[in-house]
Amino acid sequence: MAALLESIRREAKKAYKHIVLAEGEEERIIVAASRIADMQMAKLTLIGDEKKIAAKCPDVDLTGVEIFNPKSRDLSKYADLLYELRKAKGMERAEAEELAHNPLYLGVLMVKAGEADGMVAGSVNSTGDVLRPALQIIKTAQGIKTVSSCFIMVLPEFSKYGENGVMVFGDCAVNPNPTAEQLADIAIASAASAKNIAGIHPKVAMLSFSTMGSAKHELVDKVTEAVKIAKKAAPELELDGELQLDAAIVESVAKLKAPKSKVAGRANVLIFPDLQAGNIGYKLVQRLAGAEAVGPICQGFNKPVNDLSRGCSADDVVNVVAMTALQAQ
Ligand code: ACO
Repeated sequence: MAALLESIRREAKKAYKHIVLAEGEEERIIVAASRIADMQMAKLTLIGDEKKIAAKCPDVDLTGVEIFNPKSRDLSKYADLLYELRKAKGMERAEAEELAHNPLYLGVLMVKAGEADGMVAGSVNSTGDVLRPALQIIKTAQGIKTVSSCFIMVLPEFSKYGENGVMVFGDCAVNPNPTAEQLADIAIASAASAKNIAGIHPKVAMLSFSTMGSAKHELVDKVTEAVKIAKKAAPELELDGELQLDAAIVESVAKLKAPKSKVAGRANVLIFPDLQAGNIGYKLVQRLAGAEAVGPICQGFNKPVNDLSRGCSADDVVNVVAMTALQAQ
């Protein structure tokens, strides 16, 4: 396991937060929960039916893990909370009652109610279905308007890119077509994740198919506008753009194309102009360069909620729970 992930798990253990796993009847989640409890890395609540969980994994020891079976509990306080939060948006009491029985809503409501520090799901649900309840209920942290995501990319050993081979890519999973303001939010949030979770000093490149005015197009204008907004909002950040990918990470190209930039040639946080570029970009680096892609890590929520990949392993679940615990600090 990469040294970075070991360190994230160690820090999570120190934080010892309470995380809800909404897909408690899924085998990989059950196995991960057992490992997390064994490592004493987090307090856990699994949402699910204890009989189904035991039948699915009869040999897995879940000592110390709380199982919350929605069918045998009174959920009216969660339905009340949801109704209060969403009635102005037209939600009826009956709809709130029904949604409170949906584990993805219930998990987020537990976090909102202060009964847990964060939620993780997505092993059997789509990104949209995991994030929508959190967007509606948890909302964004103070001063942040956009929830977004990043991946920590751990490059193969001896890579000359990133800080000790670690880079952060954003947004690769949430905002399909961000505005300039949203791109600026994504850059600032990704820099924070780079610092707080990946443990690197962020040097942020706002990527485009143009470097410092080399091409004229409305898509380039959006990125240059985002650079202006981000620089104004976070003047302390080392951030620059618009930059082509090679100008962002290759020093010799940076000297030719953006000689005055302090970030060009040394960037370790790459901000993609939209979700198509970001999603394709991280997968290219993962598949062709053999990088480990840790995430997606959701950023910008008032309390942490993270989305698993549906192809995740039990070990991936352990890592995402660890990162969620760090975000909850
Ligand atoms: N930040 C903050 N708030 C947001 C955001 C955001 N990025 N997106 C939506 N919201 C808010 C809305 O303002 C709304 O608030 P309100 O109801 O209180 O007024 C609420 O969240 C719900 O908004 P909707 O528009 O109903 O939500 P939508 O159906 O657009 O879903 C979602 C949002 C889930 C993030 C959507 O944009 C999405 O599906 N994104 C792509 C996810 C995806 O498929 N990723 C690729 C796969 S992941 C991978 O490969 C790793």
